[in-house]
Amino acid sequence: MRRGGIGDNALTAWEALREEARGCTRCHLYKCATQTIFGEGPVDAPLMFVGEQPGDQEDLAGRPFVGPAGQLWNQALGDAGIDRRQAYVTNAVKHFKFERRGKRRIHQKPDGPEIEACRWWIEQEQMILRPRIIVALGATAARSLFGRVVTITSMRERAHTLGDGGEAWVTVHPSFLLRVRDNKEEEYARFVKDLVQVRKRLE
Ligand code: URA
Repeated sequence: MRRGGIGDNALTAWEALREEARGCTRCHLYKCATQTIFGEGPVDAPLMFVGEQPGDQEDLAGRPFVGPAGQLWNQALGDAGIDRRQAYVTNAVKHFKFERRGKRRIHQKPDGPEIEACRWWIEQEQMILRPRIIVALGATAARSLFGRVVTITSMRERAHTLGDGGEAWVTVHPSFLLRVRDNKEEEYARFVKDLVQVRKRLE
C-alpha cells in the first residue's frame, strides 16, 4: 500500500474516527478530562508525531501540543526546518490524566493499561494515514507504537520498522527538555539533531 498518500476515503474515515473518539470510554480517563484530544494535521502528511497525552492547556483548548511543551517543540521543529502544519500530530493517550491539588491539575503519567486501552486509536490513525515516518516523542509514545516497554537511549538515532512495515523514530519528549537541569542546551541541540535526521529521511 502507498505511504504518505491519501486514498479517496481517508479523510472521511479519519473524520468518522475523530467523531467516534469524542465519546471514548475505553478507559476511565474520560471521566475527569474535559474532552478527547484527537490528532490534528493533514491526513496525507508524510510525517506523524506521537506525544504522550494532552496536558492541562491542551485539555482546555481541545488541541494537542499547545502548552509549554508544545511551544518548545514548535521552536525545535523550526530549528530543524520542519513545518508543523505539514505534519500530523497526535498522542498515545487521548485524555488528560491528572491529580487535583487545590485549583491546580497536576499531570500524571499514564499507566500500562491506559496506554494499552488507547492504542486502538493510534492504530486506526496509522492505518488511515499511513505516514512515511512516525516519530515517538518520549517513552509513552514509543511504548504505544511498539507495543512494549522501550527505553529512549536504546532506540534513539536510528530507524525502526513497525509491525505494519512503517518506519519509526524515537526521541525524547519536549517536556524532558523543560525539566532537565544539566546540559540543557546540549539536550536541546540533540533533540533538534534527531528532528533534522527525520526531515532528511523525507527529502
Ligand atoms: N504533551 C504531550 O505529550 N502531548 C500534548 O499534546 C501536550 C503535552
